[in-house]
Amino acid sequence: MVDRAPRPEAELLQDLSALDRFGRDEAGGFTRLAWSGELLDTLEWTAQRMRDAGLVAEIDAAGNLIGRWEMGEGKAVVIGSHLDTVTAGGRFDGALGVLTGIDVVRRLRAEGFTPSRPIWVVAFMDEEGERFNSVMLGSRAFVGEVIPADEAERRDALDVGMGEAMRTWDRDFSAIPAARRIDEVRCYVELHVELGPVLEAEGVDIGVVTEIVGLVGLSVTLAGATNHAGTTPMVGRRDALVGAAKAITALRDAALDSGRHMATVGSIRTVPGGANAIPGECTLSVDLRAPGAGGLQAARASVRAVLAKVCDEEQLTAALTETYDLPPVPLDPQIADLMERAVEREGLRHRRMPSGAGHDAMLLAPYVPAGMLFVPSVAGVGHAPEEFTSDADVARGAAALTATIRELAR
Ligand code: GLV
Ligand code: MN
Ligand code: MN
Repeated sequence: MVDRAPRPEAELLQDLSALDRFGRDEAGGFTRLAWSGELLDTLEWTAQRMRDAGLVAEIDAAGNLIGRWEMGEGKAVVIGSHLDTVTAGGRFDGALGVLTGIDVVRRLRAEGFTPSRPIWVVAFMDEEGERFNSVMLGSRAFVGEVIPADEAERRDALDVGMGEAMRTWDRDFSAIPAARRIDEVRCYVELHVELGPVLEAEGVDIGVVTEIVGLVGLSVTLAGATNHAGTTPMVGRRDALVGAAKAITALRDAALDSGRHMATVGSIRTVPGGANAIPGECTLSVDLRAPGAGGLQAARASVRAVLAKVCDEEQLTAALTETYDLPPVPLDPQIADLMERAVEREGLRHRRMPSGAGHDAMLLAPYVPAGMLFVPSVAGVGHAPEEFTSDADVARGAAALTATIRELAR
């Protein structure tokens, strides 16, 4: 006989598919950058799904979508992640955590569970930070960090400022402090795709995250001299792009030698940018990551050493600004224990692991007990259209998150 019992995760899988209409390109990648029309459409659709699940939903002054189940007493158990993406990113990064959070509420209601305290589901603004280099703007605002005024002036590739982009959502940069809600939070939990290869390789269903690596973002501008491509002798040129090429390779090698930190140059822009002019200026992004204390300091030092050498060899100058600085954070061991027990009761295989990707949890963790659950990413792919997690793993993640919230809000 065919089993026609509805799968408990069916509605969640439908919601994940429904997001396909927002910001998807022909190659299957998703682009929903901060303060864009695509992201606003996504949040408005998700707010309606929150309301369908019985939550009170609104978008706050920092662009965070918050859905509240105001039951019981005291501070809230918050389930969070994000709905913004990188350019041509994947379907699951962030979206899985938010949509599963809503699904948890539906499940708990369906089973007649009465929470002893409020449960909130939050989609934080701009976790990825790609458009304005304002990484984790929403969770920084939520915990009450002061957002430096210069972030309002940061400009995207089309020369639109962040403050200007916020106004298209009827939000004002100066009002961001109103988004502070951390005093109302008891604890924080985030479900996310691993974005790495470990769980799949080991055949483990769920990762219980112990710590999140630190991240530093730098914007480096190398300056030389623009001149004619045909008349300027090859000897003695001050070509900023040649300097950048050397720096990119040297940064990779320094990271390999360290055996500890990661260094990635993800974007590069040249001035004037024509084929027949020597690039007099080149700006590159440098993303540094390292676990534990001290790793990021060593990584920063290696960048300074690389730039000094390249500038000396190519007769360039370097100007360096830091665009983000998120120290590594341990997650709460008691929440990890509770998650492990909850996951075990669901009959799932699990392991503890660190996260090499940044997550909103790293902003919450210094203020409230925070935990994260990972589900496998096929072939370990993240920040690419090929990012994939199977329906079965989505279902296991939903079961694990539901079991965790049942404990935290009992
Ligand atoms: C966030 O996705 C990161 O870049 O780690
Ligand atoms: Mn991401
Ligand atoms: Mn993410």
